[in-house]
Amino acid sequence: MAASSALRIERNPSPRSDEERARILTAPGFGTHFTDHMVLIDWTPEDGWHDGRVVPYGPISLDPATMALHYGQEIFEGLKAYQQPDGSIASFRPDANARRFARSAQRLAMAELPTELFLDSLRTLVDIDRAWVPDDPSMSLYLRPFMIATEVGLGVNKGSSRYTYLLIASPAGSYFSSGVKPVKVWLSTEYTRAAPGGTGEAKCAGNYAASFVAQAHATAQGCDQVVWLDAVEHRWVEEMGGMNLYFVYGSGPGARIVTPALTGTLLPGVTRDSLMTLATELGYVAEEGKISTDEWREGVASGAITEVFACGTAAVITPVGSVDSAEGGFTIGDGNPGPVSMQLREHLLGIQSGTEADPHGWMHRLL
Ligand code: COI
Repeated sequence: MAASSALRIERNPSPRSDEERARILTAPGFGTHFTDHMVLIDWTPEDGWHDGRVVPYGPISLDPATMALHYGQEIFEGLKAYQQPDGSIASFRPDANARRFARSAQRLAMAELPTELFLDSLRTLVDIDRAWVPDDPSMSLYLRPFMIATEVGLGVNKGSSRYTYLLIASPAGSYFSSGVKPVKVWLSTEYTRAAPGGTGEAKCAGNYAASFVAQAHATAQGCDQVVWLDAVEHRWVEEMGGMNLYFVYGSGPGARIVTPALTGTLLPGVTRDSLMTLATELGYVAEEGKISTDEWREGVASGAITEVFACGTAAVITPVGSVDSAEGGFTIGDGNPGPVSMQLREHLLGIQSGTEADPHGWMHRLL
């Protein structure tokens, strides 16, 4: 058992059989199967974080007037645990997720979970559900920490005075069922994801709830994903769906990669941040910048922009193959995954699966 865990453990008396688990791990998909246990930790003003426990995975019971159900006071994180070649299990920069979780909590006026408790919950759940970490280096165990407001009542004059932190885990294959096939994106001028002063840089449920209608609109236009533009001028590129974006200018060793700067309306992605460092090490120039939809269109037409890709924990790197909008569409390069995107993807996956060196100490051993 994980050393010095603060969590009490109640084992699942009827975990899935070895055969059932093996069957699921053959083709886990994304976010559809869950392990045998989950973590819960409660917070009240009197006791702070208390009653941390690992219990059998299953439904939770909530009063219908629980505040999270009415006012959306919910935040979450997403990270992965990877089987390493030496038999250990590690996750990628979980401290960065813990810090972002605390910042999201601040923005949503929720209780902050200390980093050590966040990491303890990951270690303890991965330990008890270790058999669910796929051996296949192209797969991982996706970890989903989240927190809900659990005060019962409909008043909105203040946030909840009670919270519950939960952690669930789900074996993960490829996020997009098509693998690394390039996506076609819709530039949305109909909807905005986040406005200045809003919750765009927090990982909160409401940001995702508000995105589905725009995603449906993009799908209706024959696209795979929506691209979010700024809320004020509707011309500065921000994100794609739930992922950050990168633009590749030029090619070969002189290439430059640019990602929209964090203005307060973008989610500060851990993969986004890591790619800045990795790209620099591979000899590219990596910068934050401001990219307009006109620059995107004209840059692709002139050949200045050679590749565009989205990045995030779940899908790692997804090439953007073509763009459509109310003003028409265009294809990026030849529409296929570009060499810089794929090199960065392989390098990052190599570090995460333990087959490439990790000079920054990003891999955090859980077990
Ligand atoms: C990610 O790219 O990791 C995301 O945040 C998507 C997730 C909400 C499934």
